[in-house]
Amino acid sequence: MDSKYALVDTANILSPAMLVYREVVDRNLRKMIAMAGNVNRLRPHCKTHKMPAVTRLELALGITKHKCATFAEAEMLADCGVKDIFLAYNLVGPNIGRAVKFLKKYPDVALSVTADDSQMIAELSDAMVAAGTSIQVLLDIDPGLHRTGVLPGPQATELYQQIVDAPGLQPGGFHLYDGHNHQTDLTERTAAVMAGWNGAAKLRDEFVRRGWPVPRIVCGGTGSFPVFAKMSDPAIELAPGTCVFHDSGYGAAFPDMDFEPAVLMLTRVISRPAPDRVTCDLGNKSVASDPPKGQRVVFPDLPNAEQVLHNEEHIVLQTPLADRYKPGDELLAIPKHVCPTSALHKQAYVIEGGRVVEMWDVIARDRFITI
Ligand SMILES: Cc1ncc(COP(=O)(O)O)c(C=O)c1O
Repeated sequence: MDSKYALVDTANILSPAMLVYREVVDRNLRKMIAMAGNVNRLRPHCKTHKMPAVTRLELALGITKHKCATFAEAEMLADCGVKDIFLAYNLVGPNIGRAVKFLKKYPDVALSVTADDSQMIAELSDAMVAAGTSIQVLLDIDPGLHRTGVLPGPQATELYQQIVDAPGLQPGGFHLYDGHNHQTDLTERTAAVMAGWNGAAKLRDEFVRRGWPVPRIVCGGTGSFPVFAKMSDPAIELAPGTCVFHDSGYGAAFPDMDFEPAVLMLTRVISRPAPDRVTCDLGNKSVASDPPKGQRVVFPDLPNAEQVLHNEEHIVLQTPLADRYKPGDELLAIPKHVCPTSALHKQAYVIEGGRVVEMWDVIARDRFITI
């Protein structure tokens, strides 16, 4: 285990615990800004941390533009004083009314959202007109992830024209999220990212020729961050999320980036049910279970232990080193996917100099705050 994660006093840490190493977060934020080249190019996604404390660190470093995926995250950002919030989500059903409520509650916040459907755009426009307000809408362009969005082409043109013409809506540019570009080889990743970008850039050029404003293209996540960061197109906004905390998944996938894991889980051995088994209190209700079974965490002190069972409150490790452990012993683990992990914790223990120095609330883990 890297000595920077050593703990001096764990007596008051209830396990399973999410530990945030403050100095590491700070280094990751500064690396992110250095990679962007200019802090004004950044629009980090808050879904990784969902914490006011991290948002405030970002604001203190000059990051003014922020991205989120839920109204709770948007509200958390606004309550921290963020004035430019991009909710990168298509609004349907009651979420359209929530946008109106948000604009009324935070009249000095510029809120923007995505859309990729004509009916959705019409309903959003009607709601804004009825409320006497307006909102920026970014057309969601699909760069190959095939999760949301439209391909660059005639449908994209029709939708953007609808946004341009709709009362209560302002054209906000494009959203281009390429979370499928997880190629470990940077050359291969760059080629894939550029393939997604080229279609969007051509479409933007065409729209600008028509006189339609395309003020920004919000691009990518952590994987494509180094590629977009190197490009000089002034419309590009960089939207990494995970790199603020980083995790073992991205650490393995992207060896070209030197972000460090800033979140570790503290777990305790609660049973030794067999000579080769160690059972700890790090179940799937305390660490994300979207990675494949057996790969949800990395135990740096037991790298070869097999994760043979992962239940709600238990993880069972099979290892020839099991007899080194007894109930009450502590282990640190790096989550493979930190974003859903933080959503499982109401609070995180903040570590500095090996000690708990404060607790940070994970406010936006809730799906609803007041709006
Ligand atoms: C729309 C969107 N933008 C940005 C991000 C941040 O990407 P990453 O987690 O790779 O930093 C995500 C991650 O899920 C996302 O869904």
